[in-house]
Amino acid sequence: MSGKSPDQLRSARWFAPDDLRSFGHRSRLMQMGYAHADWVGKPVIAIVNTWSDINQCHGHFKQRVDDVRRGILQAGGFPIELPAISLSEPIVKPTTMLYRNFLAMETEELLRSHPIDGAVLMGGCDKTTPGLTMGALSAGLPFVFVPAGPMLSGQWRGQQLGSGSDAWKFWDERRAGNLSDDDWQEIEASISRSHGTCMTMGTAATMMGIAEAVGFTLPGASSIPAVDASHIRMCAASGRRIVDMVWEDLTPAAMLSRAHFENGIVCAMAMGCSTNAIIHLIAMSRRAGFPVTLDDFDVASRRVPVLANIRPSGDRYLMEDFHYAGGLRAMLSRVRHHLHLDAVNVNGRTLGDNIAGAQISDSDVIRPLDQPIYAEGALAVLRGNLAPDGVVMKPSACAPHLLQHTGRALVFDDYSSLKQATDDPSLDVTADDILVLRNAGPLGAGMPEWGMLPIPVKLVRQGVRDMLRLSDARMSGTSYGGCLLHCAPEAAVGGPLALVQTGDRITVDVPARRIHLEVSDQELAERRRHWQAPPPRWQRGYGWIFSRHVLQADQGCDFDFLERDFGAPVPEPDIF
Ligand code: FES
Repeated sequence: MSGKSPDQLRSARWFAPDDLRSFGHRSRLMQMGYAHADWVGKPVIAIVNTWSDINQCHGHFKQRVDDVRRGILQAGGFPIELPAISLSEPIVKPTTMLYRNFLAMETEELLRSHPIDGAVLMGGCDKTTPGLTMGALSAGLPFVFVPAGPMLSGQWRGQQLGSGSDAWKFWDERRAGNLSDDDWQEIEASISRSHGTCMTMGTAATMMGIAEAVGFTLPGASSIPAVDASHIRMCAASGRRIVDMVWEDLTPAAMLSRAHFENGIVCAMAMGCSTNAIIHLIAMSRRAGFPVTLDDFDVASRRVPVLANIRPSGDRYLMEDFHYAGGLRAMLSRVRHHLHLDAVNVNGRTLGDNIAGAQISDSDVIRPLDQPIYAEGALAVLRGNLAPDGVVMKPSACAPHLLQHTGRALVFDDYSSLKQATDDPSLDVTADDILVLRNAGPLGAGMPEWGMLPIPVKLVRQGVRDMLRLSDARMSGTSYGGCLLHCAPEAAVGGPLALVQTGDRITVDVPARRIHLEVSDQELAERRRHWQAPPPRWQRGYGWIFSRHVLQADQGCDFDFLERDFGAPVPEPDIF
């Protein structure tokens, strides 16, 4: 222990003074059965817990919170559990993306308004990792992130089933008439076998891995399966560590640099990450004051190969396999020449120290550099007259023949008309066409995961399993295919996507990072003269705040007023 003395603890402002207000604070703790020995001279540690009865991925947090608490007590801290919005990815509508910033605000204000010295953040289901860490970065207190960890692999008739990816795959088979009702119900009961997050390389696994690579978790934490006993030990160790971090005053400001977020990008590429990594990591880095950009992702994608053979970029394995093959430390050790090894982790040691000696026990799961899953990184950023501020895709999960393609646009203004049309067996469509969905960006619809547009049933029955699809939506990290996403500026603010018409031709050239609408500038200017903005989607409540303040996808979709440099720093609360 060094750095801080007990009277310098932030919580001492609430509990130490000999005045009436502090008497009130102390007597209210005693109302709950605590004695002075519980808190005097001890760091007060918030455990921000995103457990709820309806977040399947965090079901084990009801018990794990006691393991975190045990660690905090062992190290001489005083644990306080503070529940936060749970954000179950499949359940919350219209999309959890609408509420990521809500969780970030809640986390920041929970930490600021209570007598907290440091925090353990418990999350993992997609938006919870960025939401919790963005809020904690803005609060500025020391924190450790405890990842929920992936669920066990799905099992059905001798096959491993992967979250999301196999749902999409078998749904297409069902639409093609190849699966019975009984088959479908068996799959429904077999795909999610335990607590924990999606176990493909979806957004959850991506963001937990990035959190570890940036330095927010204990080394090796991010891939531990949720039900593994080592997950319990990791929780307790995180509780012990945060107490020391408070004494060391290891705040985000003391610990972080741009290098930490660049390490996150390298990790994302080597993992074969979800496209959502871009939005969330950009938002996190901006909160920390070290902004990374779309261009940083694209530069890294040219250099860092995909090494994790995890679906959907990989063809076979799932997160459980990844963990037992060595996990994130092992994967990072293979791309160590791309990393800033001197970046300090929450455990107080450098990334180089933390990955030293990592063993790879299965080189088919974590590939060597000369046998990558994909020679370039997981993501590509394309620009052109259709997307001046970028459109992103995942080339490693796309049929190779679509990476350079020109096709006819088939345009839809909303998801329900898209769905109706793609379910129509007489739809005028070929596999060479490019499906386009607009008004699904941040302002248009809260940016839901609609970007893996359904392949028209007519084509599915012909055996087509991939085609180019363009939107201003996001897609699930468990999705795959030739999906061009996050088109910015979005259609709802008048981005060029708003001007495309069915029958226009669009050229996509992934190696050249180019997307082009084959329509003259004069014609586009004429169309713009007739364009009308759609009516606002939300006219009261939280959606109203969201629609007035959300930033575009290339800027991370944070609220403008939550960005680091918006206005003066928020002061510590008055205590009178
Ligand atoms: Fe929670 Fe996928 S549903 S991580």
